[in-house]
Amino acid sequence: MKPFRLRTLGLERQNKKKGRENVSDAFVTPGGATLSAGQYDGMVREAHTNPEVFWLQQARRLTWQTPPTQASRSDFTQDVRIEWYADGFLNASENCLDRHVRTQPEKTALIWEGQEAGQREVLSYRHLYERVCRLANVLRRLGVKKGDCVAIHLPMVAEGIIAMLACARVGAVHVVLFGGFSAEGLAERLTDSAAVVVLTADVARRGGKRIPSKTTMDEAIARCGAASAVRHVLVVPVTGADVPMQPGRDLRYAEEVAKEAADCPAERMNALDPLFLLYTSGSTGRPKGLVHGTGGYLTWAAFTHAVVFDYKPDDIFWCTADVSWITGHTYVVYGPLANGATIMVYEGLPSWPEPGQWWDVIDRNGVTVFYTSPTVVRAAMREDEAVVRSRSLKSLRILGTVGEPISPEAWHWFHDEVGKGHCAVVDTWWQTETGGVMITAAAGCVVPRPGAAARPLPGVEAVLLDTQGKEVAGAGEGLLCMAQSWPGQAMSIWGDHDRFRQTYFTTCPGHYFTGDGARREEDGYYWITGRVDDVVNVSGHRIGTAEIEDAIATDHEVVESAAVGIPHDLKGQGLVVFVVPREQDVFHPSAVNTAVAAGVGRYAVPEKIYVVRDLPKTRSGKIVRRLLRKIASHDLEGLGDLSTLADPDIVGELIATVKAQE
Ligand code: PRX
Repeated sequence: MKPFRLRTLGLERQNKKKGRENVSDAFVTPGGATLSAGQYDGMVREAHTNPEVFWLQQARRLTWQTPPTQASRSDFTQDVRIEWYADGFLNASENCLDRHVRTQPEKTALIWEGQEAGQREVLSYRHLYERVCRLANVLRRLGVKKGDCVAIHLPMVAEGIIAMLACARVGAVHVVLFGGFSAEGLAERLTDSAAVVVLTADVARRGGKRIPSKTTMDEAIARCGAASAVRHVLVVPVTGADVPMQPGRDLRYAEEVAKEAADCPAERMNALDPLFLLYTSGSTGRPKGLVHGTGGYLTWAAFTHAVVFDYKPDDIFWCTADVSWITGHTYVVYGPLANGATIMVYEGLPSWPEPGQWWDVIDRNGVTVFYTSPTVVRAAMREDEAVVRSRSLKSLRILGTVGEPISPEAWHWFHDEVGKGHCAVVDTWWQTETGGVMITAAAGCVVPRPGAAARPLPGVEAVLLDTQGKEVAGAGEGLLCMAQSWPGQAMSIWGDHDRFRQTYFTTCPGHYFTGDGARREEDGYYWITGRVDDVVNVSGHRIGTAEIEDAIATDHEVVESAAVGIPHDLKGQGLVVFVVPREQDVFHPSAVNTAVAAGVGRYAVPEKIYVVRDLPKTRSGKIVRRLLRKIASHDLEGLGDLSTLADPDIVGELIATVKAQE
């Protein structure tokens, strides 16, 4: 087993200062929770002792065309098999729409606000159903068949959600692509998924910036060349800008949906049929398309949305994540809509054109559950306190965070200033691979402890393994693994099941390895200590350092580079690159930014670039990233034994370079 590095984030140290006690007033939700703590504990016990019965029962949250008779036949050994509800049949869009149209057609499904003043749209379940059906009919007319991939490259407009559900309706596998990817990043994903239809925006907006979605997509498709399977591009008017249209291939969304009927029969899908692919970064190689199945994923989405956020039918549920991330998939779209909730979708930034926009969205729309990222909380904390204090925010009852650890200081600020001291606060730990929340202090059921991810949900068999692969009992620290499958678990990596097996099931044989380290207290509370691999988390964006280094390597002036993550006050982690150029005197570090922006996207451009003569390496030539991380974060204590390096002198030189280039 690889010698993984376990580190602590200092959260507990901070917490000791702040008072590390449980925060019981952040436990009871106003109006009381649906599940009592005792009932919740009962679910944890039942899911542990009788998982088959428990998960078949939970599957009844959904409407099945053919209900499953078996919950799991997953197996973490040998070839690895993740299979939930294998003999069940259902359609995800029917679960998110039709059954609610039957019982509550006029209930608001979606409130959308654009970033420009006055842009607002309210869709009932019936409206949403009709819009999804029209697009589903367009997709069928364009020849999209069950199992085909369809790429969705849209900002936070209702059409993004409509497109996901329309794909699900016709059995197409959606692949939502982040608006911040470069043409190269898009091309790579289009080729890997072999998407046959793409939905993109004319031009997207992000505050004052305009993002040329359509022309970037054109460039991406051109880059795919003969490898492109794209037959049609549907262009959604977001700003109404004039964009070049390729006759025969490109179609105007509004014109196409207008031609279609507002009903469309849903495809019969097996529970194991893929619902979507979502690309994410790992420690090595190219981004991988994680495959989520229909039955298990949707059960997990509905179950976790209801239990973690104490779902109540009159909630206005706002998850601020972009739909191109797993958080957007599960808690903007599938979880809340499967449960018949009202979702809030806002296109704009928190502080554009001025601070306080998101607080106004909450007040204007009576948002009751607000689920966001620690980065957003940290940024809001830095604003004048009058910004948050001048807003009522009284509709809120639950606050949640995801994507990175939240420091106790930020947790308390969120609780006191946004929640005005009366909301439950749920920090939720999970991953693209897990499909939904795994470890949390479920609202009203588990008492939170600021900075701790808290307890595994029912059915989540979390374990800690030491670096020899031995299970840590009781209190202790180790690699965070899962001993058993859960319904939301990704089934594979698109087109490469062996990579899936190797990435997640060989580090700790017989277990799913998360890539995170964690510490557990005597009473079973978990503290996430961060990634133990070469994945960096910048403002909740998961970035593989190998991807960054590959992009930089396309510059012929570069001999080699190493990207590392270091602590960052606002972003959680910042990306730092050490680059060894062919000729140090003439090399300009901006070349690194250009290469990263072109190869990955602007969002991954490093915080800081150090131009150096060489990198610290072992005698066998392996870069010692641990040293680079310490040097870049000016943490020069305990550099360890340097005598094993090929060139021990390089360390002093790097320290001097970092100092000189500050
Ligand atoms: O390191 C963990 C961190 O984010 C990683 C997963 O990233 P991604 O697949 O992009 O999914 C993010 C949203 C679900 C994890 O391996 N992470 C996520 N949530 C937390 C977290 N770290 C600490 N605390 C969290 N609540």
